[in-house]
Amino acid sequence: MRPWDDLTYLEKIFKTCRRCGLRAGCTQVVVSRGAVAPIVLVGEAPGADEDARGKPFVGRAGQLLDRMLKEAGFEPERLYITNAVKCRPPNNRKPTPEEMAACRPYLMAQLAAIRPAIVVALGATAIESMLGRAIPVGRASTRWYRVRHREHCFWVAPCYHPSAILRDPRRYSHAVERFVEIRERAAALGCPISG
Ligand code: URA
Repeated sequence: MRPWDDLTYLEKIFKTCRRCGLRAGCTQVVVSRGAVAPIVLVGEAPGADEDARGKPFVGRAGQLLDRMLKEAGFEPERLYITNAVKCRPPNNRKPTPEEMAACRPYLMAQLAAIRPAIVVALGATAIESMLGRAIPVGRASTRWYRVRHREHCFWVAPCYHPSAILRDPRRYSHAVERFVEIRERAAALGCPISG
């Protein structure tokens, strides 16, 4: 195995990162939770709970994410969950384009090591990081995008961010239906994730 295909090695490298100013103001670099899987979920950046506990999506938004995933038939611990930006921005502000660009090689290194079939982009920051352009989430969350990174191709499925669903619970059923669609697509691609 090449060192950069080894997630444990990558995690050690991530933890030494000083490519942007965020690391100076956060507690720790938050890399991932879950298991290596053909479906990877990408959020925006750690919040206060994630910064304190060192795992992505462990606060209120994370609890909602797990609930929706379970309702769609997934076991969240059997998916790989990470963020576009690995350090908490001050006051949970949106990461700047420079911070997203600084962290993107780390996200792409994770994807190159895992080689997922589907990447679920949760919210505008993750969508922009995965597709390289801003697309309104409402429109993107009904579509699939084919992305090539080096020799690896995968599908990107944009979805509402769980925080957006906390703000507007009318989006809840749309989001669960989207996760069901993702589970079915994974099965059709020959990589079912049993729940
Ligand atoms: N929101 C995110 O985008 N990521 C987290 O890890 C937590 C909240």
